Amino acid sequence: MSKPNFAPLKLFITGPTYIRDDVKEAGSLPEFGHRDAENDLRFGPIRENLKKLGSTGGKYEVALLLGSGSTAMEASVRSLVAEGESILNVSVGAFGDMYYNLAAHNGKNAENLKFDYGKAIDLNVLEDKIKAMKPDLVSFTHNETSTGVVNDMKPVCELIRKHGAMPIVDGVSIFGGADIDLENSGAAMYSTATQKALGLPAGFGIAFISEEAEAKAEKVTGKGHHHDLTKHLGRARKNQTLTTPNCTLANQMCVQLDRIVNEEGIENRFARHLEMRGMVEQWADTLAGFEMFAPEGYRSPTVSTVLCPEGVTVAQLKKGVKEAMRAEGYLMDPGYGKLNTAMESEGRRLVFRVGHMGDITPEMLTEYLGKLEIELKKL
Ligand SMILES: Cc1ncc(COP(=O)(O)O)c(C=O)c1O
Repeated sequence: MSKPNFAPLKLFITGPTYIRDDVKEAGSLPEFGHRDAENDLRFGPIRENLKKLGSTGGKYEVALLLGSGSTAMEASVRSLVAEGESILNVSVGAFGDMYYNLAAHNGKNAENLKFDYGKAIDLNVLEDKIKAMKPDLVSFTHNETSTGVVNDMKPVCELIRKHGAMPIVDGVSIFGGADIDLENSGAAMYSTATQKALGLPAGFGIAFISEEAEAKAEKVTGKGHHHDLTKHLGRARKNQTLTTPNCTLANQMCVQLDRIVNEEGIENRFARHLEMRGMVEQWADTLAGFEMFAPEGYRSPTVSTVLCPEGVTVAQLKKGVKEAMRAEGYLMDPGYGKLNTAMESEGRRLVFRVGHMGDITPEMLTEYLGKLEIELKKL
């Protein structure tokens, strides 16, 4: 069999991300039947380890949905927003907008509360909006990948609950890279995916579902098939998936989660992510004209966004820096496309992103930042 000549780039984008060799090799473990006892050997430990990583405290069931993070998010909207109800989608960037679009495109009565790029959720503004709109559900993004802003999940959920609404959370780009303490978070449902801080290929949406969300889903009609959380939970409790799973990914996930929980250690993994965020902060401090985009206290542990000096253009970042880094063997992230285009048209300074999630190590990051610095100094 001839092999295509694909470039072996080191991915410093914000997902998909770098995959370790042992995780790649786990993809060649035996295929299996998803209604056979062999299935249990993969999805039993997968589900246990996901619950450990999310600190669910036994309060959430976890289901794997063939697809990606947005599959789980779409299931949350279709299964939890009943006919006649409304949902407020709170957005601090492109992925907050996406949650709104998922709701609106499914015909839900949805409104989008938008905060400026680079800002976290302002609780006072949110409270005013909730009081005015009186939504039944509120969605928000835990870690906004387009801006590198992390919202403080617990106080946001607390505020939503104070007004009797159900909080649902997009944790796609942070799960596996930080302590999300689901047990005490207040979230009714938390959606995530495999291809970010878990250091795996894409292929499953991961849904953490509380008892409260499950009870609600049982009453909601018109959930479709693949977005019906009740059906997913029925299978999940048997360690199965509703539809045929990606068996290659299941093998990789089983090996990777065991490695994370029992070899690297959950606390060490989270500490490594914080260390890498600190490295980018220090590095940006030393670069004349550059600075961190997200405000201190709201900076993501998995993706850092750096503000460029005045005058830097989208073309310079996309064609100049990105292509120069490709020649060095790296895939660089020149900023979230729509965000930079919008900021450029508003005459604002542009950003680029450094994805430091999953299994990227501080040593890999040092090497990358060193090379990137050389290119940025040419701007
Ligand atoms: C915060 C966030 N939410 C949702 C998504 C969509 O996830 P997926 O591409 O896995 O469907 C992404 C993808 O980058 C994301 O970063």
